[in-house]
Amino acid sequence: MDKFNIAIDGPAGAGKSTIARLVAGALGFIYVDTGAMYRAVTWKVQQEGLLPEQETEVAALANRMQIELIPGDEGQQVIVDGVDVTKAIRSTDVTTHVSQIASYGAVRHLLVALQKQMTVSKGVVMDGRDIGTHVMPDAEIKVFLTASVKERAERRFKELENSGTNTLTLSELEQDIARRDQFDEAREISPLRRAHDAVLMDSTSMTIEEVVDEILGLCKDKVGGG
Ligand code: DC
Repeated sequence: MDKFNIAIDGPAGAGKSTIARLVAGALGFIYVDTGAMYRAVTWKVQQEGLLPEQETEVAALANRMQIELIPGDEGQQVIVDGVDVTKAIRSTDVTTHVSQIASYGAVRHLLVALQKQMTVSKGVVMDGRDIGTHVMPDAEIKVFLTASVKERAERRFKELENSGTNTLTLSELEQDIARRDQFDEAREISPLRRAHDAVLMDSTSMTIEEVVDEILGLCKDKVGGG
């Protein structure tokens, strides 16, 4: 089977990361979580004591920092200037401010260029918001994965409770998800949007396995692999 690329886009909490990782594992492909790159910049901004509103300084910092993504069985490890930030970039503080950082043209320009480089040799499953529209417009398989706000908030709530890091109520989480959706959809540059040739999947009442199987099925139909 020849290698090909898979783009998985969709709003926060739709299950993109888990599903993209499982699909990559099943195919022996590399999984790239692009949200982690925007989170890494946000983490560094906070470390340096910059405010998210300082767009020029944020862009300059993004330019001089080094982000490494190391694929692994348990997911992707994220290293910023030699520091392992895999866990730190999931903090509530980073999550609250990342949409703003991701709305800056200079930051997107830089990260999209890095992401494009990662897709050249094919065999990549990449998840994000603008993968099918901007990063890999030629991806052989494109999926737009969504779920209701309520369902996404409930999933996130369980995840945070299980990891013992939850500080929010279910309704606060619901509001935060709705706010992030709105911000990501309304931003001027590369807003969250379904590519015209992406397959829409609503995972509200589907299991992870069902979504993974459906994507692997798409791969078989379209590319003859999987
Ligand atoms: O998927 P996530 O929650 O880790 O993404 C974090 C933020 O980064 C979210 O606000 C959307 C943004 N993002 C983006 O603008 N483009 C991407 N390709 C990936 C994420």
